[in-house]
Amino acid sequence: MTIPQQDHTRTDQTRTDRTPDDETTFPPSPEFVADAVADSSLHDAASADRVAFWAEQSRLMLDWRTPFTSTLDWSAAPFARWFADGELNVAENCLDRHVRAGNGERVAIHFEGANGDTRTITYAQLTADVQRAANMLAGLGVGQGDRVVVYLPLIPEAVVTMLAIARLGAIHSVVFGGFSAESLRARIEDAGAKVVVTADGGWRRGAVSPLKPAVDEALQGEGTDSVEHVLVVQRGGNDIDWTDRDRWWHDEFAAAAPEHEAQAFPAENPLFILYTSGTTGKPKGIVHTSGGYLTQAAYTHKNVFDMHPEKDVYWCTADIGWITGHTYVVYGPLANGVTQVLYEGTPDEPKPGRWWDLVDAYGVTVLYTAPTAVRAAMKAGRQIPEARSLETLRLLGSVGEPINPEAWQWYRQVIGHDRTPIVDTWWQTETGGIMISALPGVTKLKPGAAQTPVPGIVAEIVDDDGHRVDPGGSGYLTITEPWPAMARGIWGDPDRFVETYWSRFPGRYFAGDGARLDGQGDIWVQGRVDDVMNVSGHRLSTAEIESALVGHEGVAEAAVVGAADETTGQAVVAWVCITEEAQASITDRDALVQDLRAWVAKRIGPIARPRDVFIVDELPKTRSGKIVRRLLRAVTEGRPVGDTTTLADTSVLTALQQHTARKR
Ligand code: WTA
Repeated sequence: MTIPQQDHTRTDQTRTDRTPDDETTFPPSPEFVADAVADSSLHDAASADRVAFWAEQSRLMLDWRTPFTSTLDWSAAPFARWFADGELNVAENCLDRHVRAGNGERVAIHFEGANGDTRTITYAQLTADVQRAANMLAGLGVGQGDRVVVYLPLIPEAVVTMLAIARLGAIHSVVFGGFSAESLRARIEDAGAKVVVTADGGWRRGAVSPLKPAVDEALQGEGTDSVEHVLVVQRGGNDIDWTDRDRWWHDEFAAAAPEHEAQAFPAENPLFILYTSGTTGKPKGIVHTSGGYLTQAAYTHKNVFDMHPEKDVYWCTADIGWITGHTYVVYGPLANGVTQVLYEGTPDEPKPGRWWDLVDAYGVTVLYTAPTAVRAAMKAGRQIPEARSLETLRLLGSVGEPINPEAWQWYRQVIGHDRTPIVDTWWQTETGGIMISALPGVTKLKPGAAQTPVPGIVAEIVDDDGHRVDPGGSGYLTITEPWPAMARGIWGDPDRFVETYWSRFPGRYFAGDGARLDGQGDIWVQGRVDDVMNVSGHRLSTAEIESALVGHEGVAEAAVVGAADETTGQAVVAWVCITEEAQASITDRDALVQDLRAWVAKRIGPIARPRDVFIVDELPKTRSGKIVRRLLRAVTEGRPVGDTTTLADTSVLTALQQHTARKR
């Protein structure tokens, strides 16, 4: 990875001086502390002996068929082996053991379809379904080490399929249902999948969005000969083409034997491959294994989300196509025997407020979502959540991008009724589980900061030369010690793993994010280093300017890019969506633009004043809701946008291009 050589320490010193929020904190309430899962003994134990701490957590969180005697083998660094001589079955840990413990009647999944169809699935039922599905897949020839690609909507069968694959010691590779046939093809080819599990279609905004045609198209392409069968869940009821290799899920499922005895597999047996798009080039197949991954998934889920399985109703809004869906919809919550909500649709279908209705309907206590969703809710207006109760909520989580302090405050006030702690969790596909987050009941919360590594994780912010920065400084976020859920490599490309993550700072995992350490030692993740701008030799964080813009009462959402500029190297260009209230009340848009430029100059400093502010209806986003700055930068600079396959809606770009064309 190439990283621009810049002086982070100097420019961020200036930044720190301008960040009054370092001092705003929310200590845990005594009521929360009284019943909190985590306490400070976790930090003490982890700092006393980190490796022993993980061994203890693993024994506490999981049932091992063969107990491990070796905790960490780092002799082939950076390829770690955790708990390597132990054996377990991942699915059994997520299912059967809860039934054996007498919790079979506890609800595992409250499913709500986009159209309002519902299913309540207990741990006993889910266990039975997974056993049968494991027999079904075994009948199609799936065994240990085989790869199965999963291309499904967010429906219970997706969870059942993942766990059935895990139960067999096979490897799943979930491809998000919004990805194109070509992306699917490339992933099938790279993984060498034997079986693909899909659905005829899924529901979205009252209509069926077909999935099977993309599989058909993918399998007509090159490199997919490895696929022997396609298993099709009936969901959309839409007409589909049928080939000899296709099988209906319901037929095969009904024909499969009901009971399946789970076999134990070594801790390092691969569990899944998940492809992440790097900034350029071919997607990387990140490989995760069993024992270490499940240990960290369960441990972080329990402690970061303060899980009381006997009474909590947890809801993570992520799709299973992303790592958040793997770790915090499937493996973490189920390993902990928690009741959760699974919702197929979007936040605002058929009308705004659907999410908040679901919170009330199921009595959700812990909600985990992305800042982009929070900002979208802000944009829609607080009257929508205010018309709901939301009284059951007691803890809120954030993931996926830096959450600006204003969104954090809004999330706490409007959704959390000024009562709920918020955990801002930093992690990545590659880290497998949460790495940096407050611990509710322990940490004094600071809006906008991910704050501290969870006990057992050691993170450091370093400068260009790999030297640790002092409080007040900033640089690159690195992880200095191996952790259980760390990626074990890139599928089929070990060299790329070493080069991408371990070569920039020898001996350290470099995450690709910039971060700041404040005066109290809290970490503020600033976003990918490629989102950093250099204006007249001063480094500016896009996230920081965005945060300032969103702090303006008229702004709902903002994206900032550094556009090439003859005079200053780069110039700050802001794209903003304004709130509904502002749309209704503002008559002079030019005046608002000037106001916003002045606002940023005032909040951060004249150097940050945007050269241009474009007011638009929508920002270009991926299907997972991340703003695609690469495209925004290209549009801003009037360059060809190139590959737009990651976008949820490409028409957004055309609208943006009209703005810049007008400017030129
Ligand atoms: C970003 C998602 C700031 C970061 C779990 C990281 C965050 C990338 C946060 C990984 C956070 C994730 N604060 N930035 N709390 N969480 N990120 O692989 O840039 O989809 O490198 O994993 O998201 O994205 P990924």
